[in-house]
Amino acid sequence: MSATAIAYSNIALIKYWGKADSVLNLPSAGSISATLAPLRTTTSVSWTRSEHDTVQFNGERSTGRDLQRIVGFLDLVRTSYDLEGWRAEVRTENSFPTAAGLASSASGFAALALAATAAADLDVTMTELSALARRGSGSAARSLHGGFVRMNAGSTAHPERAVASQIAGDDAWDLRAVLALTTVGRKKVSSTVGMNQTQDTSPYFDAWIASVEQSLPAAEEAINTRNFQVLAKLAEASALQMHASAIAAVPGVLYWNGVTVELIHLVRELREEHGVDVFFTIDAGPHVKIFTTPEYVDQVDAAVRKVPGVVETLHARIGGPAHLVDGESVLIGSTNR
Ligand code: DP6
Repeated sequence: MSATAIAYSNIALIKYWGKADSVLNLPSAGSISATLAPLRTTTSVSWTRSEHDTVQFNGERSTGRDLQRIVGFLDLVRTSYDLEGWRAEVRTENSFPTAAGLASSASGFAALALAATAAADLDVTMTELSALARRGSGSAARSLHGGFVRMNAGSTAHPERAVASQIAGDDAWDLRAVLALTTVGRKKVSSTVGMNQTQDTSPYFDAWIASVEQSLPAAEEAINTRNFQVLAKLAEASALQMHASAIAAVPGVLYWNGVTVELIHLVRELREEHGVDVFFTIDAGPHVKIFTTPEYVDQVDAAVRKVPGVVETLHARIGGPAHLVDGESVLIGSTNR
């Protein structure tokens, strides 16, 4: 009754920001992401007959809201798969600094969904796993797949549509990411809170959702044809439109700091004045995630590090699918069943 799973983080190129249903966690629009290695979560789950679920995160016992979120997810696994009476021992570790506010819920809930179902020896399809991970965090559904991934919108009439599928595998296109961290410490407003506030109060929310539906097929086409320039334009527009809708909420949801803005200018300068293949994207925090091709990684990294206020840079490449491990050996890779 034990299993260990690894899932990589992912970063959205066309963003998810808004829910059609909060309980089922159905995204109002689709999204497209790139799975990123080596940023990963490793999670072990053992189902036992003890009294309580226990969660250890990076070696420390989780409490409060962090614990509640995991227990809520385990409750869902228990009711969905007839595991009432079983309690879980969860041990989870991130290979990247969670306190820095990098998306950890994506790789976290993908690894937890896979480990929890595998530990109970359940035969679940990739579609079911994706729907389950989504209930933990919308972006987690995408982290079950490697490479470039599309997540579909859902509606209360058709919740089953809100699952992720792969557009292209991790060896399809060798893109690189330089993640520029602009603060230390956890973000102040979670994605869930920020997107709900945007949805409830921003006059630009409907325009944002309409713009996503237009970007999705174009971005998919850009990935399929490996068109960096087109993808760059679409990804930057998606990030700025998402943040514009959030900033227009009441009160405004503003994730950026001054360094975030400096980095946006830097990326534009590198592209427009130095001919570098590069684009930025920004999630629910002040960090800037910069995509480029292998030949420009060092140049981009050197330029980013010179910007005052950049705390650290991390490098990533396109990652593979979530998978189960037994010590060092991979037991099963996830499939697209
Ligand atoms: C800005 O998946 O963290 O990173 O479903 O409420 O857990 P919940 O939200 P989450 O939101 C991710 C928001 C984003 C964009 C993206 O990853 O698509």
